[in-house]
Amino acid sequence: MFPDICRLPIAASSHSSEIFRIALPVGLLAGAAIVLLHLVITRFCGKAPQRKPWRWWEALVYLGVLGIIACLGVTAFAAVLRLGAIGGWWLFAHMCGAGAMVAALPVLALMWADSNRFQIGPADSGPAEPVQFLAIAKLAYWTVLASGLVVAGTMIVSMLRWLGTPGQQLMLDVHRYAGLVCVVAAGVHLYGVALRRLAP
Ligand code: HEM
Repeated sequence: MFPDICRLPIAASSHSSEIFRIALPVGLLAGAAIVLLHLVITRFCGKAPQRKPWRWWEALVYLGVLGIIACLGVTAFAAVLRLGAIGGWWLFAHMCGAGAMVAALPVLALMWADSNRFQIGPADSGPAEPVQFLAIAKLAYWTVLASGLVVAGTMIVSMLRWLGTPGQQLMLDVHRYAGLVCVVAAGVHLYGVALRRLAP
C-alpha cells in the first residue's frame, strides 16, 4: 500500500510530461498561425504610423533577451522531445540561461514598459506621433514579461520545502506551459518588430 502511494507523484509526473510532449508542437504551431493570421489582416489595413528609431543599447538588450529565451527554449524542448525529460548537460545549459533570464527580465521591463503602453480613451485628432511598436508586438511584450515572471517564479517557489512533491510537480507543470507561452510570445514579438522595420 505504502509503496503504491509513493509511486503516485512519479506516475502523475510521467503522464503530464507525455501530455506536454503533445502540447509542445501544438503551441509552436499556434504561434505560427497567429503570425500568419496577422500578416493576412495587415494586408487589408491602412498605412502604419511613423516609426520611432531604437537606441543602440535597446537593440543590444533586446538581442540578449531573445538569445536567452531561445537558449532556454532549445535546451528544454530538445531535451523533452529527445529524452522525455531535461537532465545532464541540457539542464546545465538551461540553468545557465535561467540565471541570465532572471537578470534580464527586469531590465526589459524598465526599458520598454512605457513604450508598450496601450492608448486608452478618445483618439487624438492632432498629427500622429511616431510609435516604436505595433499593437501585436505590445501584446507579445506584456505576454513575455508575465509568462517570464511565472516561469522564474515557479522554479523559485519549488525550492520551498512546504510545497511537498505534488506541489512541486504542479509548479513544474506550470513552468513547462508558461515557458512555452514565453517562447511563442518572443517569436511573435520578433515578427512584430521585423514587420515594423520592413514596412515602408
Ligand atoms: C523561456 C524560458 C524557459 C523555458 C521555455 C523553460 C522550459 C522548461 C521546461 C519545458 C522544463 C521541463 C523539462 C522536463 O519536462 O523535464 C523545464 C525544466 C526546468 N527549468 Fe525551465 N524554462 C525556462 C526558464 C527557466 C528559468 C528562468 C528557470 C529558473 C529560474 C528554469 C529552471 C528550470 C529547472 C530547474 C528545471 C528542471 C525541473 C525538474 O526537472 O524538476 N527554467 N524548463
